[in-house]
Amino acid sequence: MILRAKNIHKTFTNGIKTLTVLQGIDFQLQTGEIVTIMGPSGSGKSTFLNIIGTLDNPTKGSITIADREINTLSDRELSALRNSYIGFVFQFHHLLPEFTALENILIPSLISASAEPRQARAMELLDYVGLVDRSDHFPAELSGGERLRVAVLRALINQPQLILADEPTGNLDAENASKLINLFRQINRDFQQSLVITTHNPAVAEIGDRHLELSSGILISRDN
Ligand SMILES: Nc1ncnc2c1ncn2[C@@H]1O[C@H](COP(=O)(O)OP(=O)(O)OP(=O)(O)O)[C@@H](O)[C@H]1O
Ligand SMILES: [Mg+2]
Repeated sequence: MILRAKNIHKTFTNGIKTLTVLQGIDFQLQTGEIVTIMGPSGSGKSTFLNIIGTLDNPTKGSITIADREINTLSDRELSALRNSYIGFVFQFHHLLPEFTALENILIPSLISASAEPRQARAMELLDYVGLVDRSDHFPAELSGGERLRVAVLRALINQPQLILADEPTGNLDAENASKLINLFRQINRDFQQSLVITTHNPAVAEIGDRHLELSSGILISRDN
């Protein structure tokens, strides 16, 4: 098992206003498994991914990644764990504007101490998603869907065991969405990487080994 989340609650507090988004989620992800999560806008999908990706703290509950309970880790240990185990595809791409597409993809491999820069692999991935001739473009010189594909490749470059993708096909046309899905399938098959994907697109949700729905603060199975 790569990830276990136990009894996750999340409440946002702004002044006197509180908003409870997650109300006791139990979730386990096996190595090599793909899980897709659907759910209405505002139901808490991004919040949940941020929490299991260790980017945000739950109000209550615990997260264990690769047999380590993250509450017990120092900030430094947590960053190291995040950088070596987790690849994040954000709903909004968060590319660094002053770096080219290729450089953005290579950033995680530069930060990680063990990984040599994987330029050839990055170019291969760019080729796969049809962006080889955009490798020297800056984010401002890419379309929305091109930026998204670059952000996905950035999450893949270190071959993390766990990939968390928040609406990865949000603004892609059907053909590019299906290419991206095939890329996810391929890395899952070739490298046993586990994926959690949130989506509003039923065709994307299809690729899950398990299909979940986030509703009223809890995760339920859509499989029966
Ligand atoms: N930092 C915050 N402070 C207060 N409320 C927040 C904060 N972040 C998110 N929310 C609220 O929590 C709820 C869940 O947000 P979240 O982004 O997780 O939804 P989502 O399921 O990802 O929606 P979408 O499908 O539109 O991306 C929303 O109602 C949102 O307004
Ligand atoms: Mg969201």
